[in-house]
Amino acid sequence: MGDVQAPAARQAVERRSRLLPAEPLAPLVVVDEVRRRSAVHIWFDLADRRHGASSPPRTIEPPTAPGRQGRTSPRRGRRSGPSPLDRAGRARQGGGVERVADLPHGRRLVVRPVSLDDLDALLELYQHLSTDDLHLRFFSAFRPSRSWLEDWITAQTERGHGLVAELHEPHGPSRIVGDAGYVLLDDGSGELAITIEPSCRGWLGPYLLDALAVDAAERGVPTLQAEILTENRRMLSMVRFREYATLGHGDWTTVRVAIATTRETPVWLGAHTRPRLLVEATGGRWRATEPAQDAGYDVVVCPGPRPGRRGACPMLEGRPCPLADDADAIVVALPLDGPGGDLARGHEAAQRGIPVLVTVAPEPGTGDPPPLPEGIDPDRITTERNPQKLIAILDHLTAGASVSDRSGPAPEPDVVVPPAVPGPAEAAGPEG
Ligand SMILES: CC(C)(COP(=O)(O)OP(=O)(O)OC[C@H]1O[C@@H](n2cnc3c(N)ncnc32)[C@H](O)[C@@H]1OP(=O)(O)O)[C@@H](O)C(=O)NCCC(=O)NCCS
Repeated sequence: MGDVQAPAARQAVERRSRLLPAEPLAPLVVVDEVRRRSAVHIWFDLADRRHGASSPPRTIEPPTAPGRQGRTSPRRGRRSGPSPLDRAGRARQGGGVERVADLPHGRRLVVRPVSLDDLDALLELYQHLSTDDLHLRFFSAFRPSRSWLEDWITAQTERGHGLVAELHEPHGPSRIVGDAGYVLLDDGSGELAITIEPSCRGWLGPYLLDALAVDAAERGVPTLQAEILTENRRMLSMVRFREYATLGHGDWTTVRVAIATTRETPVWLGAHTRPRLLVEATGGRWRATEPAQDAGYDVVVCPGPRPGRRGACPMLEGRPCPLADDADAIVVALPLDGPGGDLARGHEAAQRGIPVLVTVAPEPGTGDPPPLPEGIDPDRITTERNPQKLIAILDHLTAGASVSDRSGPAPEPDVVVPPAVPGPAEAAGPEG
């Protein structure tokens, strides 16, 4: 697909083609039956809401033992599969559970691991996608060929995991209406891709992503990553519904997201060779992400607590946050009179010895910091908005951090510390 792809798409494919880590992945997460069932129920709630279905009797096959490869027909009833393999073995073999659900009007949905037997049906799915859909999925008008799909299926089964959603009509042939899978990256996360047939959008995507996340968690993959066009509203909405963080914005036409495969926050990925910077910023967008990465930091941007999302921010619920606990510095760039204040206080109170920098919008006219809510250390507040100067402040704060292997060029230290010194009032607004 090389010549027909935009550079961003080519990079994404290159990332997907990386090999498995040398050692099997350790199981990090055990997902119990209750959680698996809840994923299915969420989906039924969605399907009913979207289609106003009159809820005929439905049966759900709870996940059972790992399935065999190569089936294309639906399986009814609980199966007694082969003995469960160890998790790493299952991941390598691409095995997994099968979910079967009766839909309204006699239709049946089967979600099962992908195999090379699905090649023709997948070709059919992709042949009927519009140019707009191809653009959202591949960042170009690239239409997958048979050999490309063969490679994609092989990559999932050998170096990751993939699911297809197969729709069975009561009196007609079945067809594949959804394709979701990941290929493992060197850092232990999975590079995610997902496509839903237009007629099944509005309900199937979240379910298929949930199913893939559950399978990934069972295989010890804590995080899925995806490069998403910022214009891809549906995909972004779907991601925001889960626990996620952003890893960068590229040229701002795309965003790279990390999605937790459990209900917890994403975790730091890869070896801790660069200083880790956790940023709490509205919508997961922080102006200094790329400059900080260039300066040698690993940066993860959390969107902070979101309305109606219980459990989205462990910090505010007194639970450990794996991102905060393993960071070398934290920047809170959320409004202090909202969740930013609680987070800044929470991070300070946690007393992990990790420096916390709070960025605030300067007061119009004076450029001074705004009145600070109680409990926030004024020495940690900065009104600095220039990314390079912010990074210089962070360099100062993290000077004692144990990790010092910064591969990027060092920024010019043209800023004065301590960080409480107000910077030029370049722009207003709460974002840091
Ligand atoms: C992106 C894509 C996979 C999403 O699948 P979908 O079935 O269309 O997804 P939906 O529209 O149902 O999901 C998004 C919505 O579900 C909601 N949602 C997500 N998870 C949910 C859950 N567990 N419970 C309730 N609602 C949920 C979101 O709020 C969002 O609602 P909104 O659109 O009203 O804001 C699909 O549109 C597609 O194939 N697009 C083309 C290819 C593509 O873009 N692939 C991704 C490349 S990175």
